Amino acid sequence: MPEKILIDTDPGIDDAFAILYALKSPDFDVLGLTTVYGNARIEQTTHNARALVDMGGKPCPVAQGAADPLVIERRAFPAMVHGEDGFGGCSPAQVQAPLSAQSAPDFIIETIRANPGDVTLVPIGPLTNIAAALQQAPEIAGLVKGVSIMGGAANVNGNVTPAAEANIYDDPEAAEIVFAAPWTVTMLGLDATHQVPLTRDNVARLAEEGGANGRFLAAAAEQYFGFHTDVVGLDFCHFHDPSALIAISQPALFTRQQSSVRVVCEGFAAGKTIAKPLPRFSAQPGWDQRAMVEVCTGANGAGVIVHYLEVMTA
Ligand code: RIB
Ligand code: CA
Repeated sequence: MPEKILIDTDPGIDDAFAILYALKSPDFDVLGLTTVYGNARIEQTTHNARALVDMGGKPCPVAQGAADPLVIERRAFPAMVHGEDGFGGCSPAQVQAPLSAQSAPDFIIETIRANPGDVTLVPIGPLTNIAAALQQAPEIAGLVKGVSIMGGAANVNGNVTPAAEANIYDDPEAAEIVFAAPWTVTMLGLDATHQVPLTRDNVARLAEEGGANGRFLAAAAEQYFGFHTDVVGLDFCHFHDPSALIAISQPALFTRQQSSVRVVCEGFAAGKTIAKPLPRFSAQPGWDQRAMVEVCTGANGAGVIVHYLEVMTA
């Protein structure tokens, strides 16, 4: 049976790679996309999510969510990473997929209540909508199957600051709420995604054998490769958002460490995720009375890319 998933997203070039994969893979039944600011302003990320539903050819609802973080002022949008339009200049002018009348948190709550024990949430943007849904209906924590987050960095540096990964940095207070809730979370952060390199050769194969969607992804990825080359100094891209989905469909490709996770909300380390592996002692209280988080500590990067290309060129 395909996994029922709900993707909370800020599309975003790597979000596009993730969502078109989820809509194509036989392993997933996508119950909807909820949108959040992050890689661009909310109107743009919602437009892009609707465009992806058009491209994916498998209709699913799109519900718009937060325009701003819960507490802090919104950070600057990363146009140099994803372009002004979030898709490296490739966002289609027109979209067909309808926009739900519900807000993202309402849609999340309703979908979870309608499918008790069956839904896996896959947040691949800032965690604002997920935290808002929890605040509105705390019982959803006991009704989901799991939560597979792209975000955080446990034993490596961040990517937007030396301390923080982008999705957590964008809304640390929301992330702290999500990591504290009594549900099972998989944290698929930079410890794993920095071990999954997407190369220009991989993308050339997508363009040749992946049909119209492969060509779209290859065109959008130009911006992403440009950022990785010019700013990060790499000749490949980190494959962030698709990895949160592949951790569900291909769990053996990732190593995990059961931990509790807390988020630094203020100061120069804001957005840092600190993970305490379960067996470790802490003299300071507040670490052990928290939900269990499976922190992905590593990945079989080559295996992840082989699997992704297999699905997208089938
Ligand atoms: O740090 C990687 C994350 O930040 C991804 O979700 C990507 O889309 C960017 O927003
Ligand atoms: Ca994202």
